[in-house]
Amino acid sequence: MKDLHPDLERIIISKEQIQVRVKELAAQIQKDYAETDRIILIGILKGAFIFLADLARELDIPHIVDFMAVSSYGKSGAQSGAVRLVLDVREPVVNEHVIVVEDIVDSGNTLNYLYHTLQGRQPASIKTCALIEKKRESLDVPIDYLGFTIPDVWVVGYGLDYADTHRTLPFVAELKSEVYQK
Ligand code: PRP
Repeated sequence: MKDLHPDLERIIISKEQIQVRVKELAAQIQKDYAETDRIILIGILKGAFIFLADLARELDIPHIVDFMAVSSYGKSGAQSGAVRLVLDVREPVVNEHVIVVEDIVDSGNTLNYLYHTLQGRQPASIKTCALIEKKRESLDVPIDYLGFTIPDVWVVGYGLDYADTHRTLPFVAELKSEVYQK
């Protein structure tokens, strides 16, 4: 096995663990939507693109994929929690069964904003799916399909980044604190 990059402390979720869990989540979604004409999976860029690609390819029910992207005004300070839409879905979601797909839920601000934005557009139903949730106080938005809960550390890989680096690692790893504290 290749040595871990020097920025990384340890692997938190291995490639194999991710593969198994993604299959399980897809199986659960497939069961829940077995009677549904089709679903729309909306991935939140950039982070969710890898998870969405793997999840969607495990689904054997009619589905389409679409994307949204937001910009957050910092995770702390006076504007903490403010989220702005920078890319919207291509197809309307009215009367559609929507699943919002996130790589990670940290403060929950992004998912909360998107959930309520989409809910206001009269979809037939809306659910949420996240690969990772950080262990925090309760969120306003339920996560219907959740892969893993992890400690409150900075993680990269499988879509998650540090300043746009380490995003395409096949596993999820903890970033050394000295990397982001520099
Ligand atoms: C990350 C992640 C989630 C969001 C979660 O995105 O992909 O979308 O933060 O954080 P929250 O629960 O505190 O809102 P980021 O803003 O880093 O953008 P990126 O996906 O383009 O890297």
